Amino acid sequence: MKVVALHNLKGGVGKTSAAVNLAREANRDRVPVLLWDLDAQGASTWVLGGESGLSKKVSKLLAGKSPLGEQVQHTPWERFDLLPADIRLRELDRLLDASADGDKHLKRLIEPFGEEYGLMILDCPPGLSTLAEQLIRAADRILVPTIPSPLSVQAFSRMLDHLDLKKRQRERLSPFFNLVDRRRTLHRDWIDSPPAALGRPMRSWIPYASDVERMSLECRPLADLAPRSRATLAYRQLWRELKADLDA
Ligand SMILES: Nc1ncnc2c1ncn2[C@@H]1O[C@H](COP(=O)(O)OP(=O)(O)OP(=O)(O)O)[C@@H](O)[C@H]1O
Ligand SMILES: [Mg+2]
Repeated sequence: MKVVALHNLKGGVGKTSAAVNLAREANRDRVPVLLWDLDAQGASTWVLGGESGLSKKVSKLLAGKSPLGEQVQHTPWERFDLLPADIRLRELDRLLDASADGDKHLKRLIEPFGEEYGLMILDCPPGLSTLAEQLIRAADRILVPTIPSPLSVQAFSRMLDHLDLKKRQRERLSPFFNLVDRRRTLHRDWIDSPPAALGRPMRSWIPYASDVERMSLECRPLADLAPRSRATLAYRQLWRELKADLDA
């Protein structure tokens, strides 16, 4: 099983939108997929029509004292499951800090799902702390949605400084541009020639598209909501690029 996290120090940059659409694209490609909504806000749980709230105490589940697998919900799509959010996940960092396995704890929690799924997607809350450090161990790829703006690039650099990664780990961190408006010069320039601080971002990028905003109104991924939308095709392209990277 491959593990892909959507993560950014910044909020509102498109983590949830990408998590849901990449999961659905993988599912369309017949990959058995589990999306774990790690954000107390529960946005991806909402879009996928899931029910927020875990039936056991989050502290017990994250400590491995109660099986996480029992919390999995089905979505309307076959072989596409959801581990829903819970408001108590706002204490996620503290709970991960308390674990005995140190920075490998999240990886240990995830491992048993490998028997059933080919891909696990983690929709992460914004921020930069224990979760980010554990993601480096647990995820094959950390995708970082990035709005083309100097402040976003600065946030990415800050994330790299904080995590202090080895070269091999650094290669697992892949920014991609979201909310791209090709009418803007900076956006066009950065798509063609990304700033060096981003390293090697994904070649695929997601345009600004109102269809993406409709996802949370209509509670469906883009492939179902707007099959021919530019944004749908862009997420499909991003999935293909990601899949090729994961298979390499
Ligand atoms: N490509 C896009 N085009 C138009 N709107 C977008 C695009 N990507 C994201 N949005 C909108 O921006 C808002 C934030 O997106 P999203 O919830 O995916 O970000 P997030 O990083 O998960 O946010 P948070 O940090 O709160 O979890 C949402 O209203 C979403 O519909
Ligand atoms: Mg989100």
